[in-house]
Amino acid sequence: MSVEDRERWDKRYAGGWKTQLHRTLLEFYHLAPVGKALELACGTGENAVFLAKVGFNVDAIDVSCVAIDKAKQRALEEGVQVNFICADLDEYKLSTDTYHLVINFYYLNRKLSEAIVKALKPGGILIFETYNEKHIILREDFNPLYLLKCGELPDLFKDLELIYHAENFNVSTFVGRKIT
Ligand SMILES: C[S@@+](CC[C@H](N)C(=O)[O-])C[C@H]1O[C@@H](n2cnc3c(N)ncnc32)[C@H](O)[C@@H]1O
Repeated sequence: MSVEDRERWDKRYAGGWKTQLHRTLLEFYHLAPVGKALELACGTGENAVFLAKVGFNVDAIDVSCVAIDKAKQRALEEGVQVNFICADLDEYKLSTDTYHLVINFYYLNRKLSEAIVKALKPGGILIFETYNEKHIILREDFNPLYLLKCGELPDLFKDLELIYHAENFNVSTFVGRKIT
């Protein structure tokens, strides 16, 4: 990622932008055995903190160190431990065969899909949700490179057992399990 892009995210978070706890996480996290979890592009950490509260040992990564500082503060206030990491996922190497749960909300980096599958333990669950190409109807300025094609998620994660897939207008959701 470019320095300008990183600064753009830092500026957004410094201006008070916050991530939210996603309903899809609440619906599906219980499918994963409680153990180690990873959140990709965690922003200010609401989802990672939730997972820590329900017993997961959480690693959570975002390129914005401003967001990560806010996330650390949030975890402190909520009295939970989360391993928040400020790093660029274009370069960061995910550990393999490590996680019982990986979550990715509103961040699309297709090059990570293989590493995500490798990062899961057998039986581990992936919850992935982000905007698809219909989003351009609402946000004409959105970079189409970061929008899923309709039907793309089951293909990106074809090595996982499909548990749930939905395309609700501009949002695509996929939940899958690693079998072996
Ligand atoms: C739309 S926000 C989504 C935040 C959060 N996952 C949520 O759903 O509320 C996208 C996030 O991706 C992060 N991001 C963008 N490019 C990244 C990269 N190369 N490495 C790590 N994080 C990145 C941004 O800093 C931002 O927090």
